[in-house]
Amino acid sequence: MWSLTALSAILLASLATASPLDKRETIEECLTSSGVPYDTKNGNDWNQDVAPFNRRLPFTPAAIAVPKTTEHVRLAVACATKLGLKVSPKGGGHSYASYGLGGENGHLVVELDRMNKITVDQTTYIASVEAGSRLGHVLTELNKQGKRAISHGTCPGVGVAGHALHGGFGFSSHSKGLAVDWIVGATVVLANATVVNCSSTENPDLLWALKGAGSSYGIVTTFFFKTFAAPSQTTSFTANLNWNNVQNTVKGWTALQEYTANTMPAEMNMRVFGNAYSTQLQGLYHGNSSQLQAAIQPLMSSLGTSLSSRQTDWIGGFTAYSNGQTVDVSHPYNIQETFFSKSLTTTALNNTAMTSAVNYWLSTAKSTSRDWYIIIDMHGGKNSYISSVPKNESSYAHRDALFLYEFYDRVYSGSYPSNGFSFLNGWVNAFTSKLDASQWGMYINYADPTMSRKEAQDVYYRGNLGRLQSIKAAMDPEEVFYFPQAIEPVK
Ligand SMILES: Cc1cc2nc3c(=O)[nH]c(=O)nc-3n(C[C@H](O)[C@H](O)[C@H](O)COP(=O)(O)OP(=O)(O)OC[C@H]3O[C@@H](n4cnc5c(N)ncnc54)[C@H](O)[C@@H]3O)c2cc1C
Ligand SMILES: *[C@@H]1O[C@H](CO)[C@@H](O)[C@H](O)[C@H]1NC(C)=O
Ligand SMILES: *[C@@H]1O[C@H](CO)[C@@H](O)[C@H](O)[C@H]1NC(C)=O
Ligand SMILES: *[C@@H]1O[C@H](CO)[C@@H](O)[C@H](O)[C@H]1NC(C)=O
Ligand SMILES: *[C@@H]1O[C@H](CO)[C@@H](O)[C@H](O)[C@H]1NC(C)=O
Ligand SMILES: *[C@@H]1O[C@H](CO)[C@@H](O)[C@H](O)[C@H]1NC(C)=O
Repeated sequence: MWSLTALSAILLASLATASPLDKRETIEECLTSSGVPYDTKNGNDWNQDVAPFNRRLPFTPAAIAVPKTTEHVRLAVACATKLGLKVSPKGGGHSYASYGLGGENGHLVVELDRMNKITVDQTTYIASVEAGSRLGHVLTELNKQGKRAISHGTCPGVGVAGHALHGGFGFSSHSKGLAVDWIVGATVVLANATVVNCSSTENPDLLWALKGAGSSYGIVTTFFFKTFAAPSQTTSFTANLNWNNVQNTVKGWTALQEYTANTMPAEMNMRVFGNAYSTQLQGLYHGNSSQLQAAIQPLMSSLGTSLSSRQTDWIGGFTAYSNGQTVDVSHPYNIQETFFSKSLTTTALNNTAMTSAVNYWLSTAKSTSRDWYIIIDMHGGKNSYISSVPKNESSYAHRDALFLYEFYDRVYSGSYPSNGFSFLNGWVNAFTSKLDASQWGMYINYADPTMSRKEAQDVYYRGNLGRLQSIKAAMDPEEVFYFPQAIEPVK
């Protein structure tokens, strides 16, 4: 006679070799007996939670747990490791590579967006933020609870978790840094299904790894953010750029580069936004409109353009760039696009590199019928908060970059064309072929899953990769938290 434990050992052993998608019933049984809520396959919640922001990259999880507490998350991780399943936390689901779904089929997805409680301590002004909160909700609650703020990006539906764990750039970043720069601690469920806190004094290596490469180390259930007093006045502005030939563009960009590197005051935040139809300087000044005018005048005369501006408050500064979307958004969230995107970070460009990039922009990009855009963020420079943060504070690897770029190409119907990739690859190559490796990198928050794992880890993490890999080897040697570009455990 087989004993019950021997039978279940055999069952578990055969399950470990079964394909992950075949483990749905057993993982659901484990979640049920542990009291962890999960979505019924193909039910309304399942269909909602499995819908990726990037429609180009759908994946089918083995199961979707929908925890309400840290203990639920811990129990869900325990179920997955018992069955040999990979685990992927999903925050706002905005990964360009659908890494919140694992970036491949068969993961246990831990959907966090029902966990979105936010409390600001009224003595320390430290905010405790549940990890399923989206940026618009964080903005709203921090403002309500004492007019506080952290720095972050522009889209209300982006999850604070994926965003802050890998950087988080927006219209306050030159003034106030990346979202990651406001993290002071976190409660985390580790690969061995234990819960720990980390801070500068408790598990500091884990905190360092989370601050830039968080998705490879555990599931953050609560963030602790220090906050700043939100500026009461902000002024949003745009200026049209007459960048219609190579000479104008190189001249204008060179002036902008010089301003960003040396003159741009801390209160100024801006980017260049270009598409097939126009090229604009867009910004948000932390201050009133007359202060903005004084600060930007030197640049306006060298660019030969003029400003259109609107003075507003802190929330108004956010809605100036959030495309009319609902600000305080939680669940459900329904926006999707079909696209391919790439990122780049560079130091200041010399004439060779800038001319190469501009040639591609004005000849190749301007002459296709594709729906593309490029964003050039003013990331670094003498007065940038991002550049002022010590390099060893976080695993975010691009403190020296003057510019952060996003390249985006989308379709409005049908699937993304297979010949689409070469268009953006060519554009990035127009820069990198004229740069040394020490002068550029890439940003995992605009993940490009067409890169190999090795190349991705290198360009995302550069000099920090070695330390990240040994922390991974110590904390998650079996790669429970895996996606195709996750940090590899290397001793
Ligand atoms: C419309 C749009 C606008 C954007 N705007 C900006 C912008 O202005 N600035 C900017 O810097 N970026 C921007 N991004 C990029 C965005 O910051 C990243 O895609 C970010 O990673 C999304 O986080 P998420 O939680 O929504 O995504 P998810 O897909 O849920 O997660 C992204 C990654 O983080 C991991 N993760 C999620 N939650 C946790 C957790 N609790 N613990 C550990 N790991 C976790 C996931 O497993 C996955 O690997 C934008 C993206 C979109 C789609
Ligand atoms: C983590 O910190 C929070 C807030 O201080 C505390 O409530 C919790 O008990 C801590 N958890 C662990 C595992 O130390
Ligand atoms: C802007 O602020 C400055 C300094 O406080 C003040 O002198 C100026 O009058 C203000 N301008 C406007 C338009 O509010
Ligand atoms: C960074 O380095 C400085 C100087 O060596 C040190 O004092 C500090 O503790 C380090 N910070 C971290 C987070 O490792
Ligand atoms: C620009 O930098 C690249 C890479 O270092 C170099 O090959 C090129 O000669 C430089 N061009 C100019 C004009 O300095
Ligand atoms: C879980 O992993 C952490 C990090 O590697 C380790 O410090 C801890 O001892 C482990 N706990 C158990 C119960 O194995």
